[in-house]
Amino acid sequence: MISPIEQRTWLVSESPFNPFKLSHTETIFTVGNGFMGVRGTFEEGYAGDLASTLVHGIFNHAEGDLVPDIVNLPNPLPVHIVVDGEVFHMTAGRVLGYRRTLDLKRAALTREVLWRTTQGVVVKLTFERFASLAAEHLLVQRVRVRALLGSPKVEIRSSIDSAVTNEDVPHLTDIQQRAAEGDLLITARTNQSRYGIAVAAAHSLSTHSAPSTSADQVRYTFDLPQETEVSLTKVSAIYTTRQSKTPDQAAQEAARAALAKGYESLFASHCAAWEQYWHTSDVHIEGDEVAQKAIRFTTYHVLIAAPRHDEHSSIGAKTLSGPGYKGHVFWDTELFMLPMLTLTQPKLARNLLMYRYHNLGGARNKARANGYEGAMFPWESTDTGEETTPQWSHPQPDGTRIRIWTGDTEQHISTDIAYAVLQYWQWTGDDEFFVKHGAEIVLDTAVFWGSRAEYNTEQDRYELKMQIGPDEYHENVDNSAFTNSMVRWHLQQALAVRQWLLAHHAQAAEALLARLGITAERCALWERIAAKMYVPRDPETGVLEQFDGFFNLERLDLTHWQPRVANMDWILGHARAQGVMVIKQADIVMLMALLGEQFGTLEERQANWDFYYPIVDHGSSLSPSTHAWVAARLNLLEDAYKMFIYAANIDLEDLKGNVRDGIHAAASGGVWQALAFGFVGLGLADNGEMQVAPALPPHWQSVTLRVYHRGQLKTIRLTAEG
Ligand code: BGC
Repeated sequence: MISPIEQRTWLVSESPFNPFKLSHTETIFTVGNGFMGVRGTFEEGYAGDLASTLVHGIFNHAEGDLVPDIVNLPNPLPVHIVVDGEVFHMTAGRVLGYRRTLDLKRAALTREVLWRTTQGVVVKLTFERFASLAAEHLLVQRVRVRALLGSPKVEIRSSIDSAVTNEDVPHLTDIQQRAAEGDLLITARTNQSRYGIAVAAAHSLSTHSAPSTSADQVRYTFDLPQETEVSLTKVSAIYTTRQSKTPDQAAQEAARAALAKGYESLFASHCAAWEQYWHTSDVHIEGDEVAQKAIRFTTYHVLIAAPRHDEHSSIGAKTLSGPGYKGHVFWDTELFMLPMLTLTQPKLARNLLMYRYHNLGGARNKARANGYEGAMFPWESTDTGEETTPQWSHPQPDGTRIRIWTGDTEQHISTDIAYAVLQYWQWTGDDEFFVKHGAEIVLDTAVFWGSRAEYNTEQDRYELKMQIGPDEYHENVDNSAFTNSMVRWHLQQALAVRQWLLAHHAQAAEALLARLGITAERCALWERIAAKMYVPRDPETGVLEQFDGFFNLERLDLTHWQPRVANMDWILGHARAQGVMVIKQADIVMLMALLGEQFGTLEERQANWDFYYPIVDHGSSLSPSTHAWVAARLNLLEDAYKMFIYAANIDLEDLKGNVRDGIHAAASGGVWQALAFGFVGLGLADNGEMQVAPALPPHWQSVTLRVYHRGQLKTIRLTAEG
């Protein structure tokens, strides 16, 4: 018997209908399968909704726009139901009951509505949908209509909406529409990148009624005697020229073939695939229903966004669930989402790392263009691997635009990617990947840093000027302690990787080192930089100074600025925020998370925490989960839990007020990471053995998770008794 708590924690529900939360619920009710993401927009459409159908890798740079966008594809969802001539809409007639439920276990969205027409007919409408995990080109919908009071004449109209844009920016051209006997097809091209796309839909009705098909619509009309039910199954297939030379044909064939299998059979294979996902990725928490549900929700959102069969795409900061950041890929993927995948779905993690490998070309271009060597990864990346960070913000209230520097100087991303590669390699033991691909990423990014570090002759030390660390409120600073420390670590790792390659794969190593120009002189340089990298620090307390001059900034007591949702840099203004000792997100604390005990002694870590925790704004959703992780390691369980629950509910409760733009994917991945590396204290010993060092919230009775360690699936179960 499944316990009621177990059942409840797999379900995210909305009841009653709340039109004011439309854009929030659209995001959180997104369905997806690693290929597509379809927001929880209603079939009949509402004013102000933001239908969005995104697939990985389809970007387009529209004329006049600053940077490329992930393209919103034609919307396959529309289904309109007409009961005795009245078009169903939740603002018309009378809604007698409403419940919408995302079943996280089965990755399926269901809406049930009891609706009374103005003439008094009552119908129950059930809308179901899922993006098949078993056949990733398919979005499957079923609409059931049951007559409860009265025997109406019902009409169901289905269409694909091609009049879509990315918030008024049009990306599609050559849009063509075709329809025949219950089938619909839309083809189009992106107007700059020239990707071909096709969305096809095939339909079947549970009762006999010949469809009448026009260019843009399939219609069924039938009588519905009281207490009977009729259902329409709509199978849509999406293909692009990234998968097929003839996406139109591929989409039509896929939709028809799937329809022939029937809804139940398609759903069964989808559920079976999800069972496998959850078998390794589910975390079971006893004693905390809120945390249990939240971690299933956040894990679901990372899983639906992770490409399964594509190593040329990665997960954008807002997944495929909304327009935020235009689908661009940041360090969020490597340092927040990847760890969960590396440990629970290593094949998916490998795909994401391969995306970076395939985009080394873009990273090398960026290094060259800036006068450096090696590979310098873009801060924001899309399908080309070139830098796609906008250089200017949207106009501010006073009409001016702010220069965005992250694409120029937030350079730590190259090391973040190397970190993720090494973490994947250490946990999986996937030497094949590492020798062929991973090592090249680690080494060529090290080549970049070797050319980037500046020698200060007066001080006899290496420095990095003009950086942005994780805390983006302070731009173009000198000697970011985070960046400098991570670069030192990176160069040490690169030297060790070189040695390992030479010892174990001599031939491959020679070829790679020669190709990347990693000579004895270069290694000597790396050693010098690592030994003499300057990291600003108060020698008395051991507290790192976030960057040169940080300790002299104006102090502000953040405790008085509550309750607050807006970011401090927005409130203070961009320029003033630079001079104030309030930071956007975990920066030194992020360094503590990544380096663990290598950061310093327990006293030093505690001192750094005490200094930085009170001045952090959590202006970035990346911040709370990192704080939860580090606080747990310091055994500060109250703070750790507070931060954990904050991170876990960011999207469920719209704590940042911007879930409309999409899921905060780094926070989602960060929740798993805070639990695994923070509370459970999961880690690898020097000899590669897996170890745990639990520091659980006191009210948790137990926590169980599974992780792969060197190809073996291990179950870790911790109980309060220890
Ligand atoms: C954060 C970055 C993050 C980006 C995308 C910014 O607000 O400061 O760290 O990479 O959002 O999520």
